[in-house]
Amino acid sequence: MAFLIKLTITLLAGIVFLLQKSSAAECSNWEKPVLTADYTPQGNVVFSAGMDTYETGNSSSTKVLIAVYDIYGFNPGPNIMQICDRLGEYGYRVVMPDFFHGEPWRREHYPYPTDDEFRNFVKATSWNESVREDLGLVLQEYKRQNVTEFGIFGFCFGGKITAHALDTYSSDIKVGAQFHPAGADVYDATRIKRPAILLPGANDPDMTDYCNIINILLGQGSCVYHHFTDVNHGFSGGTANWANDTIRTRAEEAVGMFEQFLCDKFPAI
Ligand SMILES: *[C@@H]1O[C@H](CO)[C@@H](O)[C@H](O)[C@H]1NC(C)=O
Ligand SMILES: *[C@@H]1O[C@H](CO)[C@@H](O)[C@H](O)[C@H]1NC(C)=O
Ligand SMILES: *[C@@H]1O[C@H](CO)[C@@H](O)[C@H](O)[C@H]1NC(C)=O
Ligand SMILES: *[C@@H]1O[C@H](CO)[C@@H](O)[C@H](O)[C@H]1NC(C)=O
Repeated sequence: MAFLIKLTITLLAGIVFLLQKSSAAECSNWEKPVLTADYTPQGNVVFSAGMDTYETGNSSSTKVLIAVYDIYGFNPGPNIMQICDRLGEYGYRVVMPDFFHGEPWRREHYPYPTDDEFRNFVKATSWNESVREDLGLVLQEYKRQNVTEFGIFGFCFGGKITAHALDTYSSDIKVGAQFHPAGADVYDATRIKRPAILLPGANDPDMTDYCNIINILLGQGSCVYHHFTDVNHGFSGGTANWANDTIRTRAEEAVGMFEQFLCDKFPAI
């Protein structure tokens, strides 16, 4: 049964591919951004929609990219703020709300799946328990500030949040990126209503079917998928060691691919 479903998805994806041609050509000459291990964020933390929020980029842009960090939250290091700053240079206003309200998962506390404390943390910070409502407030606040359109990108925990956002808030949020998402589920793919780019690490599950489903439902080119094979889960997240050239280079490539995808699907200007 699973095999037949998989075969059907593959055949349908092939037919969709033959019927439609990609519009990505003019955005294909992307340059990957430069990331560094030692970085001082360029933006500011403001209080917005009931949360501390890191803000950077073009404050007069009507297009906002919402960053959703991993479980280590706001302060595991400047990696995700650095990615926000680089995307801001392309002309977007970029905002990263503190959905954990100052209480991220502690970095020294490795999240074993059997750990009750971790399970409680995951439940308390899940889409249904808190983030759905908070993200609604974020959208409302920036619309009040004359923002007209949103994109979203998330890391690990934030990748799962991105999938939910591209369903529930698809009238406002026009595009999304999942960097090494946690808990990716093909069922999520069936509910995604906006284009998405998927960027898992080597030890993350394969997302070929996930991407094919999006392409079938939304049209060929709606999903871009690149499975990084020499760096593990977390390579572009808050705890990634970018002093390692391989890990940093792959993070640069992932952000560059997202930039190219944005150019095609959600240009800044
Ligand atoms: C900032 O956004 C505004 C509004 O879209 C645009 O006119 C301006 O060119 C942007 N600035 C930069 C530096 O991208
Ligand atoms: C979240 O809420 C939705 C809608 O109320 C419900 O269908 C879904 O099962 C819930 N998910 C979880 C994991 O509780
Ligand atoms: C939003 O636009 C209105 C109408 O152009 C303007 O009066 C108002 O100052 C703008 N608000 C912000 C926060 O930019
Ligand atoms: C850098 O990271 C890669 C990928 O995780 C790993 O294979 C390699 O051993 C690391 N290099 C160093 C010098 O630690």
